[in-house]
Amino acid sequence: MIPPACAILTRESQRIRGFFSCRSNPVRRPVTSERDESLRRLDKLPPYLFSAIDAAKAEARSRGVAVVDLGVGDPDRPTPPELVEILSRAAANPRFHRYPAQRGDAQLKRTIAEWMGRRHGVTVDPTRQVLVLIGSKEGLGHLPLTCVTEGDNTLVPDLGYPVYGQATILAGGDPRTFALKRENGFLPRLDEIGSLADERSRLLFLNYPNNPTGAVADAAFWKQTLQLCREKKLVLANDAAYLEVVRPGVTPGSMLRQADLESDRVIEFHSLSKMFNMTGWRIAFAVGHADVIDDLARVKESIDSGVFTAVQAVAEHALGDAFESLLEGVIAPYEARREMIVPVLEKKGWEVFPSQATFYVWTRVPGNESSVEFCARALKELGLVVTPGLGFGTGGDGWFRISLTASDEDVLEGARRLEAWK
Ligand SMILES: Cc1ncc(COP(=O)(O)O)c(C=O)c1O
Repeated sequence: MIPPACAILTRESQRIRGFFSCRSNPVRRPVTSERDESLRRLDKLPPYLFSAIDAAKAEARSRGVAVVDLGVGDPDRPTPPELVEILSRAAANPRFHRYPAQRGDAQLKRTIAEWMGRRHGVTVDPTRQVLVLIGSKEGLGHLPLTCVTEGDNTLVPDLGYPVYGQATILAGGDPRTFALKRENGFLPRLDEIGSLADERSRLLFLNYPNNPTGAVADAAFWKQTLQLCREKKLVLANDAAYLEVVRPGVTPGSMLRQADLESDRVIEFHSLSKMFNMTGWRIAFAVGHADVIDDLARVKESIDSGVFTAVQAVAEHALGDAFESLLEGVIAPYEARREMIVPVLEKKGWEVFPSQATFYVWTRVPGNESSVEFCARALKELGLVVTPGLGFGTGGDGWFRISLTASDEDVLEGARRLEAWK
């Protein structure tokens, strides 16, 4: 009999496969089929494998299993105390208790522009080219509403963070997927993107440094991609949530460094979530072409009222002079944790992708199992949660993701269990 945790994951993986097999080929699936018109946009969203993983985890815990969770990508360590102190002082200031400036506090936007110049060599006009967000997920999720109408499409990576495709569907569009493959270093082939794009293509989503693979894109890649977007009249959106979470010796490179912010229709999403262990605080920002930024701001003005000004005051401090020393303290533990687990995987003969960024370890599933079968077995036999690559799209199947955002003890224990696994 299949144990319950495995059954939950297996059922969800079948649903996901079914979904993607009819979605990934735009030719086989006309945008305005009768089937689609009869569905609410909400009903067109793909199943969310991560909820099934949570259910499987809870089920194992309820049976008394001492679960080690290396699944979620949410930093285990607290926000630096210096930032928490600034928040507590700012929270007591009645000036901050009123509605925030909708597009972001002017001083914070100036600080962001200075940071982009100092850190990434990008010259930015803080008034026209910067927008403060309630987390980068919020900005990415609203972006398709700026340019996608019924019958339009966007180009999204398979494998990738699910929001790009889901937000496209919610805006009434159709996400068309292109592959990220190991043999290409998990970068897309631009000729594939070029042939997917047509006159109804509006947006190209990319995510470098990449979750879950940890791949990074270099200047030459961005130059070619920008050229493609000019030719195909696409807005280029780079999700740079992990831009600062790089391994020692790796220099983070903003896509904007290669763009002409006055003429290229680009937007890059930055987030304080992973930079400063602030996932719960909800603050991020977008930088890009003034019209793209203005469009996104107009969508947001219709829906939300901005970020608590006290949280913006913290961001202003974090991106200022204290930036480098704060960041170093936040990302240093990940390298030590990587060292705890990667040698174990390699000793078992498993292929670990040589990631240059993020706090993930992206590993090929050994043997012929699917990623879901493998992860379900890891939970059943080891009490270890790791994320099946299928959760990032069919292109992720055959791989699994280990997150280094658990305590050192848990990472060590996870490594120990894997080492002893037959
Ligand atoms: C690739 C990627 N982009 C964006 C986000 C969203 O980050 P936030 O909304 O916290 O800025 C995440 C969160 O895990 C992510 O993995």
